Amino acid sequence: MFVLDEMAHEYEKKHDDVIRMTLGKSELPPSAPVVEAMLAPAADYRTASLVFPAGLPQLRDRLALEYQQRYGVHLPSNRFVISTGTSTTFRNLHQLLVTEGDEVLVPLPCYPLYVFTARLVGARVRHYRVDPHSLEVDLASLEAAMTPRTRVVIVNSPGNPFGNVVDRRRFLEIDAIVAGRATLVSDEIYVNCLFDDEPYSAAELMGNSFSKGHRMYARRVGYAIVGEEPVEPMSVIQHHKALTTDPVPQFGAIAALDSRRTSPNWWTVTGHGGTTRSRPSGTCRTSGSYPPAAAST
Ligand SMILES: Cc1ncc(COP(=O)(O)O)c(C=O)c1O
Repeated sequence: MFVLDEMAHEYEKKHDDVIRMTLGKSELPPSAPVVEAMLAPAADYRTASLVFPAGLPQLRDRLALEYQQRYGVHLPSNRFVISTGTSTTFRNLHQLLVTEGDEVLVPLPCYPLYVFTARLVGARVRHYRVDPHSLEVDLASLEAAMTPRTRVVIVNSPGNPFGNVVDRRRFLEIDAIVAGRATLVSDEIYVNCLFDDEPYSAAELMGNSFSKGHRMYARRVGYAIVGEEPVEPMSVIQHHKALTTDPVPQFGAIAALDSRRTSPNWWTVTGHGGTTRSRPSGTCRTSGSYPPAAAST
């Protein structure tokens, strides 16, 4: 993957019409309030050197508020464990939940992170299918792939690469098949790129980050929402592996959450079901194709 990205970098030095189809990285920068929110902390040593292995308390509180307002779920802020992105979260989760010989169930096709981080801890990776025509999780293949060694089942919605959405009903069906035999982990990193459906946050264990929806790709802030039990071990793993997530982009993440509701860069569009949804201008290349008449600024 990075080989192609490095090749693209070389091409870009000579040509101005290179279209990158390598990393899921927006060509647009993070929004102005996000960048501004990082400047002052970056210049202030006391703030820039704050060390909180599980994340800045202000960001964890802000995330708890976000989930209350957006999804109506009441979660204490200590259940949000901040990390340097979903990538780190998956590495930590697998280290916590899986030992050699255990099995991790992963969608096919999938983003390679799950396979790689599961194999790093000696797990065997098995797949369940996402149907390329209906874009639904194939429940029969999920059922068939479950074994007594299954420790983790990963769901990714909206999914990479298909863009398939696992709605509440389907998620409950998946949960019924897993039936407490393994930990369900939901990667919801593209939830802010969901424009026609209601966003649905599912999981017992959930991972998300600011890379995609807020275009903070290289600023490296993500989070896991975990049950009561894994809070402490997740924080300890973070402490010893990374010490802390840089506080500066965490201030940017707080601004990203604040500006999502107030920014004039959010459009309101009417989805297929007649519901009104918000859409961040410029998050995807296709944003301009939405009718400007539907824009509310
Ligand atoms: C489905 C999925 N999960 C996780 C990641 C990694 O994201 P992060 O930047 O939070 O590490 C990506 C990045 O492309 C992705 O597509």
